Amino acid sequence: MTEQDEPSGRLKQELLDLALEAATLAGDFLRDGRPDDLGVAATKTSAIDVVTEMDIAAEKLITGLLSDRRPEDGLLGEEGASVEGTSGVEWVIDPIDGTVNYLYGLPSWAISIAARVNGETLVGVVHVPMRGETFRAVLGEGAFIGDRPTRVRPAAKLGLALVGTGFGYLAERKVQQAEVVRRLIPEVRDIRRGGSAAIDLCDVAAGRLDAYYERGLNPWDYAAGDLIAREAGAVTGGRPGEPLSPALTVAAPPGLFERLQARLNELGAWHD
Ligand code: IPD
Ligand code: CA
Repeated sequence: MTEQDEPSGRLKQELLDLALEAATLAGDFLRDGRPDDLGVAATKTSAIDVVTEMDIAAEKLITGLLSDRRPEDGLLGEEGASVEGTSGVEWVIDPIDGTVNYLYGLPSWAISIAARVNGETLVGVVHVPMRGETFRAVLGEGAFIGDRPTRVRPAAKLGLALVGTGFGYLAERKVQQAEVVRRLIPEVRDIRRGGSAAIDLCDVAAGRLDAYYERGLNPWDYAAGDLIAREAGAVTGGRPGEPLSPALTVAAPPGLFERLQARLNELGAWHD
């Protein structure tokens, strides 16, 4: 039997342990090794979509450990890791989610590592070094902060919901995202923009946000946080009837989720 068949408990535990080890290794390196004069190494989709030397080095550290331990696995990383793999297991890695926060010395950045089998996320780890917190989940086994189980808040009414969101790096997209926020903000308690989608999803899991949505995420931003939020009791999705995707990511407890998702659909949060 290959790992493409029913994944065993032993496999899940192995993947979780490895994700935790890789995230901690990268987190220590990023926290302790951040140069005071850290600058931008390259830009991607626009002049404000930046990569630092530390993003690149942290991804190498993570992929080096993973491929050393499990050389048959596939890899997909924000900074370019792309390996097909033959085991059926694929690692989805964001070495720094919240790169702009990291560049400026703000604390909200995280290492996000997920393991997928047949496209289904089995394990998710989001390590937040400056909070001293590690969020983790295994499919069907609940979500934890360290060793403490975590749950979403009870569903709030939309008008009382504290809602996290984020913005892309392209000006045209930001104009539409700002328009959605302009219309949503009078209808909710308030909006938060933390700067790391992975942490936002974990904050829903921890009951620190009622809900979160964003257009334009990539799989490495949401793969681990999505599983952690769902295992903490959230529903996640995209447009009504669709799974979450780069077009739209929504996460909230059942009851609030449907209201927010319907409103975001009306407001056109899924297009530029
Ligand atoms: C970004 C963060 C941010 C979100 C952006 C992402 P990065 O990831 O998650 O919160 O608003 O859409 O691209 O660039 O810091 O890895
Ligand atoms: Ca990211």
